[in-house]
Amino acid sequence: MNHDTENHDNHDTLDRAPSRRRVPGWAGLGLCLFPAVLLAACGLASSDDAAPATDAAAAVSATVEESPDTIAASTSATSTTPASTEPAVAPISFASQVEPIIESTCANCHIGTGPGTTHIRLDNAGIVAKASVGISSVVSSGEMPPWPASDDSVAFDHDWSLTTDQVDTLVAWHEAGSPLDVADDHPIEPSNAGVRLDDPDAIIPSNGAFDGTDAPEDEYRCMVYELPGVEAGGFLTAMDFLPDQETVVHHAVGFLVSGADRAAIDELDAAEENGGWTCFGFNPAPSAKIVYGWAPGQSATRYDEGTGLRLGPGDFFVMQTHYHFDDGLEVPPPDQSQFAVNVVADTAPEAAAMTALNVQVMLGPAEIPCRSDESGPLCNRDAALAEAVAKYGPPGALGNAILGGCGFAPEDFAGMTDGIATSSCDNQIATTGDLVSVFGHEHEIGSSFRMTLNPDTPEEVVLLDIPEWDFDWQLVYEPAETITVEAGDVVRLECSWDRSLRDPKLEPAYVLWSEGTNDEMCFAMATVSPVDG
Ligand code: HEC
Repeated sequence: MNHDTENHDNHDTLDRAPSRRRVPGWAGLGLCLFPAVLLAACGLASSDDAAPATDAAAAVSATVEESPDTIAASTSATSTTPASTEPAVAPISFASQVEPIIESTCANCHIGTGPGTTHIRLDNAGIVAKASVGISSVVSSGEMPPWPASDDSVAFDHDWSLTTDQVDTLVAWHEAGSPLDVADDHPIEPSNAGVRLDDPDAIIPSNGAFDGTDAPEDEYRCMVYELPGVEAGGFLTAMDFLPDQETVVHHAVGFLVSGADRAAIDELDAAEENGGWTCFGFNPAPSAKIVYGWAPGQSATRYDEGTGLRLGPGDFFVMQTHYHFDDGLEVPPPDQSQFAVNVVADTAPEAAAMTALNVQVMLGPAEIPCRSDESGPLCNRDAALAEAVAKYGPPGALGNAILGGCGFAPEDFAGMTDGIATSSCDNQIATTGDLVSVFGHEHEIGSSFRMTLNPDTPEEVVLLDIPEWDFDWQLVYEPAETITVEAGDVVRLECSWDRSLRDPKLEPAYVLWSEGTNDEMCFAMATVSPVDG
């Protein structure tokens, strides 16, 4: 088996429609998805798109820098129910009730060099107590910890979301005046550190380091990672991205690239002075397949014993990293993030018995007409499509093929003029086997996402439900229980969009499937470990 064979499998989902034959496969998708994923990652960058900071959260930033007296004043000022009027209840212990929650669900990102530390640090008990108003606010709203999947989804490994009881505990502790039964400087130690690969076969540095001194606020950088020991072919059995400069490494997307594209990639890499090359808006190589996504806090990907991603001779990895440099903050030293992997070479005795995983792409239409109160030349679908093609070439028109492949026409969406658009598409599972992971993807105006196995049947299983699409936190979800899928099983993708999330400064336009941030997608991946039978 090589990539080409797998690529064909990836097409199968939409093969029912003849027009699908003309749709570029992974290469085209890569081209389309690439900037999408990047931009999807730029939560910290696009602060005006992010959920508005609550007053309480704003108070946190203020309180952390203020003197204790001011904090006490501001805390009691914002507290609606003073503790003294509350009926007597068992006091909440910081040490035995609050600290374990903070350490297991927040600390990993909010101490050390974690990604949340540029917003708020939770290094010790005293700081946590001062921040309790903000903590209580963000856990009540569900903003923190970031875990967009709802409980309608199947259970997932590494689920770091809070239970209702845990939220209640944090809120009640804040309302009781955030009392401490430990010293102020009692350190918070993360117990939710992502699960790392403890004994990787190799920890690969990127080919070059990226110095962000002259970089734009958001830089999308491709870097080559060699896969040692499998030059003649083999399997990739585990992966773990290890960010170097954690305060600026925001998100990463990993592509497996065929050895046949090596010369072209080396040329790109050599053309720029700084480590890697700017790769916003284009596909790293025709053979590139997206196989890995990393967001802060994510654990290592470790495939089941005896399974892995198939590597052809000379195959290598290209990691596309989104760097975000906060305005006004010091630029850290050059970043050289690492990639820890486990591999099995074809020459190894166990290789013969290995099973190659299938990463299957699933698609749905993205058609979001202008609201009835919006007007302009680009509200015409043909004009919007022509513009996408002018910008991105033939892949700009991929939306048409997807529409046809899913059995729809533009007229089916023409009535969605109240600013909310929805679409759905039944994709078919290509390979019988066990589901390893699922991943959903939309852009900035996505409002919900759902993936359902065998919908409207007694066997229906909601694989992934994201009731409020969160552009900033796109995670790869690994089902905790074994879910067996069969070739031909239906996976229904349901996507929705809300035009009120669109940047009001943009010219009114019919939004359709294309690769820019302001275009949209309804995209999913399912990784399946094939089983016989
Ligand atoms: C996976 C990493 C991660 C985890 C886990 C996490 N946070 Fe955050 N947190 C962030 C990032 C990143 C930000 C910056 C804003 C953003 O990107 O949403 C943030 C922002 C915040 C803010 C400031 C919000 C604002 O609007 O300014 C608070 C308060 C906060 N987190 C509290 C918590 C608490 C309490 C927990 C645990 C219950 C937690 N966080 C878990 C990454 C994380």
